[in-house]
Amino acid sequence: MSDLLANSPVIPVVAIEDSDNAVGLCEALQEGGINAIEVTLRTSDAIKAIKQIKKHCPNMILGVGTVLTPDDVSRSEDEGADFLVSPGLSPKLQKALQSTNLLVLPGTATPSEALTAYEAGFDKVKLFPAGAVGGAALIKSVYAPMPNISYMPTGGVRLANMNDYLSLPNVYAVGGTWIASTALINARDWKTIQGNARDAMDMSKK
Ligand code: 3PG
Repeated sequence: MSDLLANSPVIPVVAIEDSDNAVGLCEALQEGGINAIEVTLRTSDAIKAIKQIKKHCPNMILGVGTVLTPDDVSRSEDEGADFLVSPGLSPKLQKALQSTNLLVLPGTATPSEALTAYEAGFDKVKLFPAGAVGGAALIKSVYAPMPNISYMPTGGVRLANMNDYLSLPNVYAVGGTWIASTALINARDWKTIQGNARDAMDMSKK
């Protein structure tokens, strides 16, 4: 499995409402030491934002998140995504995700879902919504029976608890909106975003 995210322990999950903010956002994150981003397909400007990042921020590892359908998979591939993230897996989505060569991080919430994803070829998964389904205690508990599956928790991850996750051997990264919330992006508060990124990278135990 790809080690694309080997140097990316903290991945900002962003919803970009105005694609004109995409490049400023990436520059702020990169100045804060973050080199990977998950742009969610939750806004009408998401694809435009992805195009901007692809064009102007070639060193940013570009993930597309909230991938829900086979169409989302092909659109993301067409736009040059580096990795794909989904909140869960359905039979149709699984088939589409298996057909791509990109790094895929499918969402799982239970050991059975993680095993199903593993069986489908995905040994890196996302735990979602991490805080609500058991948090770091869940990931710690599944390590002994499933040491080959590693997790990126998202949902409820913040600076204060990210190392509860990152200190576990079966966690390769954490994701979250706290670094670059939609409100901060809309306000073009690059200074705060850069500071949040720097704090996360400086404190990360991975
Ligand atoms: C998401 O997909 O929205 C992520 O899980 C982020 O959740 P957060 O807002 O709790 O960081």
